[in-house]
Amino acid sequence: MEVIIVPTAQDVGELAAARIADLVASKPDAVLGLATGSSPQGVYAELHRRVQAGSLSFAGVRGFALDEYVGLPLEHPESYASVITRDVVEPLGFDPSNVRVPDGRADDLDRAAQEYDEAIAQAGGIDLQILGIGANGHIGFNEPTSSFASRTRIKTLAPQTRLDNARFFDSPDQVPTHCLTQGLGTILEAREVVLVAQGAGKAAAIAAAVEGPLTALVPGSALQLHRRATVIVDEDAASGLKLADYYRYTYAHKPQ
Ligand code: GLP
Repeated sequence: MEVIIVPTAQDVGELAAARIADLVASKPDAVLGLATGSSPQGVYAELHRRVQAGSLSFAGVRGFALDEYVGLPLEHPESYASVITRDVVEPLGFDPSNVRVPDGRADDLDRAAQEYDEAIAQAGGIDLQILGIGANGHIGFNEPTSSFASRTRIKTLAPQTRLDNARFFDSPDQVPTHCLTQGLGTILEAREVVLVAQGAGKAAAIAAAVEGPLTALVPGSALQLHRRATVIVDEDAASGLKLADYYRYTYAHKPQ
């Protein structure tokens, strides 16, 4: 994994956005894996700035969301379909028909999950997957003990994840108990992965995912198996990394 430590949360967003902008410039119909949550907000904000400036267009870019709650109405403001529309599709100017979110309202969730993986394959696979990480090490909604081979499927949300996400709902018991999420195996098939994290609350998860053993207890550690995974963190999120000085040295001496 390439680990890049930058001073501030804003720098995290700018660096990740620069990588995405490079990809879209070279491949205007690129397929992006889109994450929700607070972590990628700075990335989307910087991409929005570039779109406003006229230097970047998402008109031909395709997108697949990572995950979705089960059972929330589509129009619920916290359904990931609504969040992706509000935070990504509208501000960045995606064609809505080019963006897909797992169908958490389907009668047959297993089938919806399988069709989702098939749609990703039909699109030619994901070029770049944007990721955050949960405090318990989850990526997407792959909670601890998720199989490294898992595909898009229904998962039960860990109680801690429901508590973490309660801030978006009127009360904790309104947070759905289940979700559809791309599997770790699905995520590992993306041609490139960029994980962003900010703040001391993510330091333990980042240290475990980057430097800990490969273990299903820390789903983010699956990224150690990826050929092209970049982890971009601010100083606070990097504070648990044993080899932080090495990562700084490596980035400072990165060949063009
Ligand atoms: C959420 C999402 C993940 C996200 C993670 C961290 O529940 N399903 O995709 O990366 O948990 O969230 P945040 O970025 O808000 O800290």
